[in-house]
Amino acid sequence: MEEHAVVAEGIEKRYGDKHALDGFDLVVRQGTVHGLLGPNGAGKTTAVRVLATLLRFDAGYARVAGLDVRRDPRGVRARIGLAGQYAAVDEILTGRQNLEMFGRLFHLGGRRARLRATELLERFDLVEAGDKGVGTYSGGMRRRLDLASSMILAPQVLFLDEPTTGLDPRSRGEVWDAVRRLVAGGTTVLLTTQYLEEADKLASRITVIDRGRAIADDTPDGLKDRIGGDRVEVVARDTADLAAVARTVARAASAEPVVDETGRRVHAPVTDRVAALTEVARTLQDEGIPVEDIGLRRPSLDDVFLRLTGHAADRDPRPEVRPEPAEALA
Ligand SMILES: Nc1ncnc2c1ncn2[C@@H]1O[C@H](COP(=O)(O)OP(=O)(O)O)[C@@H](O)[C@H]1O
Ligand SMILES: [Mg+2]
Repeated sequence: MEEHAVVAEGIEKRYGDKHALDGFDLVVRQGTVHGLLGPNGAGKTTAVRVLATLLRFDAGYARVAGLDVRRDPRGVRARIGLAGQYAAVDEILTGRQNLEMFGRLFHLGGRRARLRATELLERFDLVEAGDKGVGTYSGGMRRRLDLASSMILAPQVLFLDEPTTGLDPRSRGEVWDAVRRLVAGGTTVLLTTQYLEEADKLASRITVIDRGRAIADDTPDGLKDRIGGDRVEVVARDTADLAAVARTVARAASAEPVVDETGRRVHAPVTDRVAALTEVARTLQDEGIPVEDIGLRRPSLDDVFLRLTGHAADRDPRPEVRPEPAEALA
């Protein structure tokens, strides 16, 4: 079996004169979760739809599960699954009925469709909910059912497009567990997200996408090292104390602190977050420097962009729209 589940080289996709993908490259190793991280409008959905054969592209080369996306889209479709931000399940049916329906759509036959539905309900922790109408499900249960329905044929490669956007933290955790179980079962997952934390928790490698192009490809730790990892942040009460605060923070930090005068804020990356916070708080107190706020901040997508591009992430101002019907290849 080949080592790479997904290979994309120089993919271009234009809408009029807008370059949704502008020389996009990606390599995903077999059997891993790969994160595609970027703000709204960066090109994540376009990339997934191109790789899943749902969207024609203008230039470049793509191979998924060992098959050329342009030459053999049907072959690719037989080896992949896709779950999106909008669950494709039917509200009126129960969870079990939805899965059986998908099974029949994939020509499994009634008996195998029923067996597969039962297996998937177990796998995604939906046994109890299975016979209830989907209309009564929480957001997290719906996304899990949607994941289950994208797994009917046990795909080699699964595309998950922002599977947790809009979910509360508990539902998000449930979806993360479901993704981990999938990968333990041998599936390769390409997961798009706007959350650094999500990519960090699930992925063994992260590609950062900006304006239709990959601008970094690294392990989560490598990426966090490049952007400075966790930070200690102190807001001084008086501007006059900023220099003293900066000196204190510098002693606990792993790099030069950044001083923001207007916000009376000093922040710096730290390696041992709790030890650093404790030390800074104690020193400030010992020296009698009054502070308005002190805390730890985890790097966010915005920090990633600021470091990698020198500018804040451009976000697509359009509210996210449901993808248009597939203009499928062949
Ligand atoms: N059907 C379309 N028509 C015109 N522009 C589009 C269409 N779909 C996406 N775009 C534009 O392409 C860019 C990438 O969009 P998309 O792939 O949806 O980004 P993401 O999924 O990262 O939010 C955005 O600027 C978006 O406005
Ligand atoms: Mg999208």
